[in-house]
Amino acid sequence: MSARVDVLLGAQWGDEGKGKVVDVITPGYAVIARFQGGPNAGHTLLFEGRKHVLHTIPSGIFREGVMNLVGNGVVIDPVIFLKEVDALAKAGVDVKDRLLIGRRAHLILPTHRALDAASEAEKGKEKIGSTLKGIGPTYMDKTGRNGFRVGDLERADMMDRYRALVRKHERLLAGHEHVIDWKAYEGEWLDAVQRLRTITLVDSEHWLDEQLNAGRKVLAEGAQGTLLDIDFGTYPFVTSSNTITAGACTGLGVPPTRIGRVIGIFKAYCTRVGSGPFPTELNDEVGERIRQAGHEFGSTTGRARRCGWLDLPALKYAVMINGVSELAMMKADVLSGMDTIRVCTHYKVNGRLTDRLPYDITGTVEPVYADLPGWGALSVSEALPASLEAYIRRIEEATGVPVKLVSLGPDRAETLMRDTAAVAG
Ligand code: GDP
Ligand code: IMO
Ligand code: MG
Repeated sequence: MSARVDVLLGAQWGDEGKGKVVDVITPGYAVIARFQGGPNAGHTLLFEGRKHVLHTIPSGIFREGVMNLVGNGVVIDPVIFLKEVDALAKAGVDVKDRLLIGRRAHLILPTHRALDAASEAEKGKEKIGSTLKGIGPTYMDKTGRNGFRVGDLERADMMDRYRALVRKHERLLAGHEHVIDWKAYEGEWLDAVQRLRTITLVDSEHWLDEQLNAGRKVLAEGAQGTLLDIDFGTYPFVTSSNTITAGACTGLGVPPTRIGRVIGIFKAYCTRVGSGPFPTELNDEVGERIRQAGHEFGSTTGRARRCGWLDLPALKYAVMINGVSELAMMKADVLSGMDTIRVCTHYKVNGRLTDRLPYDITGTVEPVYADLPGWGALSVSEALPASLEAYIRRIEEATGVPVKLVSLGPDRAETLMRDTAAVAG
């Protein structure tokens, strides 16, 4: 019988702990496939005392017998990609037999990075807070029908195509004031492109179709989070791809009728890195306490993440847009030791209460909180404290979706299934 594609994605502003959960549930799948984003992502895995950060390569890569696919919706920087491959080799993982790239994926050129940097520099105080990996300009070239795809590496006129796109970018850069020295990166980039050809390239939509027809289960791994989605996020402070379930269809070439479970990952609180509205942000010692306890510093850029209370209207929105069928709650341990934990249940907009995320949340919404009792130290070998169970029930009631996985620490082993059969598949 034909298998389904389950989708795992971020239900907040990214960094929810997607990498950890993918790693934990990978044994239930034959294929892990990244469907969008690029090296702006940083997915952290921790097991056997070692930490690994993946940017482009799917988080199933450490598990034997599982194939990992970089789908057509992903944008790839060959230099960063090969650094990941080399780091994996050092960690004892030979990617050769377990990693595939879809030919339709687009490449990030050195000039895309330069355009990203120039655009951000000119925005000044209005800047997005981009990771400056060239994500926006690469997706712009994709939708503008100028992009350079991985499959182009197999063409005889590859260098001509590369040079033509660079010339176009040079004309654009000529109109900018802040132009970084992208040429210094070009040699390394061209070397990496040669090496990238040693990774197996596939027509991934056909390959995935065959896998599913053969009954092999696929997990689609998202990057970023719902509120960073290009259409439904806090625009313009978003990334340049569809981070939502629909993005798994376009980013892998699988039809909506083949989507199975949709697993939404969220933290017991909220974080955001970069600019943009964040209604429940804590600019005080509580926010600082969460940042320190949760090590809330970016895995890709090292930037301090902004921290705040859990935002239920935003989480409900993520559940709605993605058709989330189950939730995974991360980092409950970070809030341990707090007497009271606040949850934003509603917003006040123009004096009226609502639990809907409105079109614009920039300074126009005032969060309304419920105060709930906190919990002490947590352990996977003990039952969850009643106060944490009550917190989870509150989230389940608000969203209408079960929380099937609770994470109590960064390690693979610090994970509790509230319904093992449903989450571990
Ligand atoms: P991703 O981008 O969604 O994969 O998330 P990141 O890896 O960027 O950020 C999540 C961070 O939280 C990483 O440093 C993880 O190791 C860590 N982490 C994940 N789950 C937990 C948890 O339950 N508790 C704690 N304390 N840390 C966690
Ligand atoms: P993972 O997959 C958190 C944020 C950036 C910036 C905005 C646009 O690890 O959850 P971009 O580089 O895409 O132009 O940046 O999006 N951002 C992320 N924030 N986690 C991520 O990925 C992110 N990827 C991009 O900080 O605000
Ligand atoms: Mg991350």
